[in-house]
Amino acid sequence: MLLDTYGRQAVDLRVSLTDRCNLRCTYCMPEEGLNWLGKPELLTDEEIVRLVSLAVGTLGVREVRFTGGEPLLRPGLVPIIAACAALEPRPEISLTTNGIGLARVAAALRDAGVDRVNVSLDTLDPDTFARLTRRKRHQDVLDGLAAAEAAGLRPVKLNAVLMRGVNDHEAADLLAWAIDHRYQLRFIEQMPLDAQHGWDRTQMVTAEEILELLRARFELTPEPSAARGAAPAERWLVDGGPATVGVIASVTRPFCRACDRTRLTADGQVRNCLFATGETDLRGALRGGADDAELAELWRAAMWGKKAGAGIDQPEFHQPERPMSAIGG
Ligand code: 5AD
Ligand code: SF4
Repeated sequence: MLLDTYGRQAVDLRVSLTDRCNLRCTYCMPEEGLNWLGKPELLTDEEIVRLVSLAVGTLGVREVRFTGGEPLLRPGLVPIIAACAALEPRPEISLTTNGIGLARVAAALRDAGVDRVNVSLDTLDPDTFARLTRRKRHQDVLDGLAAAEAAGLRPVKLNAVLMRGVNDHEAADLLAWAIDHRYQLRFIEQMPLDAQHGWDRTQMVTAEEILELLRARFELTPEPSAARGAAPAERWLVDGGPATVGVIASVTRPFCRACDRTRLTADGQVRNCLFATGETDLRGALRGGADDAELAELWRAAMWGKKAGAGIDQPEFHQPERPMSAIGG
């Protein structure tokens, strides 16, 4: 099992399949993109499946989420998912995507074994979308959402990041729209994980503010059954329910104490935290001929060293070298 010295067990594996993306969200990366990983650095499809298999078969991982960058850009996505869905015990399989291209592959993803998708959608306005993501692809995302719903990848979850003066006035509109379409909306506080290190605490729209914006139009009550568990979102009933809204207060109300995550980057590094400053090189070991027992031991040791918290609120907080797009959300 993947335990740490604070008594946590990692059962939720996040696998980044590529650091590339077809959007350029301002809170994530610069206009010109990043120095993408080269093909030889990326884990092959077979290497990914081997490591997921080890995590599920030996290390107690029960849920696998594929992320990026943008995971739909990975050519081998469908076969990777199919191979993971064939593992015993079968893990829960989900995908975090920006939704572009989802319309084309939603049914194939469902058939391969994807259970759920999270789609990023920060705005209902095509012009604001273009400003935020620097690409005119708003309609593609809406089409992707509709296709995911139609393919039965339910409940479709929406992730929204609010940026002050850009889309924060849309908080209540986004919620009304999501409820109307039966998508489950969650707001995520902007985290210091952008490649250009432009994050500014004083500019961040806090969970408290998000709730205030929503309460201008809706009545929010804490979800009673909400055993929050390891789920990062705090959930609220909207106007008495059954609709809900989630708020992920990664910065102002971190949930590290219940964290059950372990992460694998596209180039085969284990990270015990989004904000970790160190990594464990599984790719090197794997390509050097390590057997499953050795790889498992490296992974266990990586998690054993997990810190109590990310410490974003500490003055000595250091943003990790790698941006979110290279770690996986
Ligand atoms: N802070 C908060 N959320 C972010 N995302 C990407 N970068 C950040 C950031 N710096 C979101 C994306 C996506 C999810 C994986 O994380 O919008 O929905
Ligand atoms: Fe791409 Fe996601 Fe980063 Fe936006 S936040 S640029 S969709 S990786």
